[in-house]
Amino acid sequence: MSALPASAIALTHGTSQSGVTIPQLGLGTYKITDDEAERVVAQGLDLGYRHIDTAQMYGNEAGVGRALAASGLEREEVFVTSKLNNPYHRRQDALRAFEASRQALGLEALDLFLVHWPLAQTPGIDLVETWQAMIEILEGGGARAIGVSNFQPAHLDRIVEATGVVPAVNQVELHPWLIQHGLRQVHEAMGVVTQSWSPLGRGRLLDEPVLVGLAQELGVSPAQVIIRWHLQHGLVVIPKSTHAERLAANADVFGFELDASQMVAIDALDRGLRTGSHPDRVQL
Ligand code: A2P
Repeated sequence: MSALPASAIALTHGTSQSGVTIPQLGLGTYKITDDEAERVVAQGLDLGYRHIDTAQMYGNEAGVGRALAASGLEREEVFVTSKLNNPYHRRQDALRAFEASRQALGLEALDLFLVHWPLAQTPGIDLVETWQAMIEILEGGGARAIGVSNFQPAHLDRIVEATGVVPAVNQVELHPWLIQHGLRQVHEAMGVVTQSWSPLGRGRLLDEPVLVGLAQELGVSPAQVIIRWHLQHGLVVIPKSTHAERLAANADVFGFELDASQMVAIDALDRGLRTGSHPDRVQL
């Protein structure tokens, strides 16, 4: 496979363009160990992935960093995201944890840094304090863009009302069983880019008959159909796999298109089904 075609979305903070663009297709690394992350990310970069998504919580930033260093790619060629871990929501902790991420990844600046979970029900946690620390990181040049993950509309409203700084992205669980229609509309109104985590429903969607049927019709795999659906909805999508051939196939999604009726048929699979935690239930 040749390098992926450029398909990127501009990020904004508040109402101003940040000048940062995020490649629409990236490689996720959730549940991939540090050693394995080094191999998988190296293979991904070799295959043409130019967007890598990690998190402090995954414990694999150092492995990702080793793969980036060994790739020989220029820093600006790869978009790198990490996320603030739950115990570090207080300002001082957040700043310290961010420095540890930079060190582990071996990067002077991250492209995107996210608050991983809102923890809005945890006593003593103040979303605004955390978001202000993120703004400090942005203004200090440690990250080119900042955003959030697993935020509900009320959480977005709270931090924006308090600071005036709109998160560049909100990364949430999103796939054909959980199409997040309402949240996507909120994002659109606010200028927040939607990123899909577990875009394949942790692989469980791959046997879904409608998707299997569409895949047969189009001569591609169910995973490719799903990834294409995310892309055509304008979502940033980060499928993950530990297998080289699947990594290659998941990125080989620019040679076919879903028509309007196929998109609608996939949208209709929505049943509000989460494969991961509900944002309100993740607490310290
Ligand atoms: P594996 O790592 O063994 O390839 P999600 O990104 O929604 O969390 O889904 C990831 C899961 O889907 C992983 O278990 C991964 O398994 C599996 N997976 C990813 N891509 C493919 C593919 N093209 N075909 C089959 N399974 C896949």
